Amino acid sequence: MTTDYKPQLSRKTNTLDDFWMPFTANRQFKAKPRLLESAEGMYFTASDGRQILDGTAGLWCCNAGHGRREITEAVSKQIAKLDFAPTFQMGHPLPFELAERLAAIAPTGLNKIFFTNSGSESADTALKIALAYQRAIGQGTRTRLIGRELGYHGVGFGGLSVGGMVNNRKAFSAALLPGVDHLPHTLDMQRNAFSRGLPEHGVEKADELERLVALHGAENIAAVIVEPMSGSAGVVLPPVGYLKRLREITRKHGILLIFDEVITGFGRVGEAFAAQRWGVTPDILTTAKGLTNGAIPMGAVFVHENLYEAFMSGPESAIEFFHGYTYSGHPVACAAALATLDIYQRDNLFQQAIELEGYWQDALLSLQDLPNVIDIRAIGLVGGVQLAPNAEGVGKRGYQVFEQCFQDDLLVRVTGDIVAMSPPLIIEKAQIDTLIDKLASSIRKAS
Ligand SMILES: Cc1ncc(COP(=O)(O)O)c(C=O)c1O
Repeated sequence: MTTDYKPQLSRKTNTLDDFWMPFTANRQFKAKPRLLESAEGMYFTASDGRQILDGTAGLWCCNAGHGRREITEAVSKQIAKLDFAPTFQMGHPLPFELAERLAAIAPTGLNKIFFTNSGSESADTALKIALAYQRAIGQGTRTRLIGRELGYHGVGFGGLSVGGMVNNRKAFSAALLPGVDHLPHTLDMQRNAFSRGLPEHGVEKADELERLVALHGAENIAAVIVEPMSGSAGVVLPPVGYLKRLREITRKHGILLIFDEVITGFGRVGEAFAAQRWGVTPDILTTAKGLTNGAIPMGAVFVHENLYEAFMSGPESAIEFFHGYTYSGHPVACAAALATLDIYQRDNLFQQAIELEGYWQDALLSLQDLPNVIDIRAIGLVGGVQLAPNAEGVGKRGYQVFEQCFQDDLLVRVTGDIVAMSPPLIIEKAQIDTLIDKLASSIRKAS
């Protein structure tokens, strides 16, 4: 790549060439980079010294805000005390302690915790548990998995197969898992545009599961996986009654229900988990991101105790589930997660999203009459503003708004022409106002 641009990097490097950036237009970025150097509270500091208001909790991760001293200290102490210990046929105290703490805030019965390192690994782990469980209870013909259009479950082959974002899947089409179907997504702008809270229309989309059961036979279906609210596809909310309906149908047919709460977990929608906010308990629930406030990579899969018990039936000397990661229950990640949970609980952060929800919704809906705004969706402390594509094609206007926001010291996230926001739960009303003003001005400039 040739460019005269000299990025302001704090280390001794003059090139951006060698890092192959994930989910990024590498050439575009490297020609005009956006570099963040440090972070504190609600703000990043960019490499040119500007304070950037974090409208996205990093990447839906830093629910407690940035630079939390308690997490940093817990991590430093732990790495000095026990940098690594295996959890295959060995143990150390921290994952046991963390599992107990997580079980205490989990939806009822989801008290067996399997640790991973990311949301993608959590999704693949959940799918494997579902398949292995069906075999363990003598239902080995149940091998089919059902995801949903617009779903995102990370980038492993399992999560990718049940996911429904076409750009992520296209290049790997021939290598995706066989025996996978997709429910229809629930985005319905014709009937639900500018809903306040959960959209009214669309519960019947869950009935498509009955159609798939009729097509394949329930005895061939292992599990359904959905995000209670699709985040990455651009904040697609579940219609009123939809998740309950899915639960009823899955239960009726002996199909496991998996909620991917990698984004909605840890307070984003006003309870520890969306399962609790919307009163629907799945059989398996996946998390990552907010588990450690983004500070150290870690994921956790919450499994219903009945499923776990079904694995515990063979000889006691036999490994019950041939799955795991070198870093499952890594001591430093556990220390970060324990310190994070302390903050969430001490500062009552899971309630923050509920307390600010009305203000957040009003603020976002105030953008309704701006040019090219065709839908606004908001719940808890998450929001999406959908823009009409411009004549240059899908995603161009969205990217323009994203860039403009960054120039105006605000970090948002875009998927196509949808601007998604998920600020740290410590955001204050005045900061919501600033966020909305900057976003409004960027939307106007992109019209
Ligand atoms: C719902 C959901 N599942 C899984 C993932 C994948 O997580 P990771 O990038 O940590 O693998 C994400 C990431 O955004 C997500 O939003």
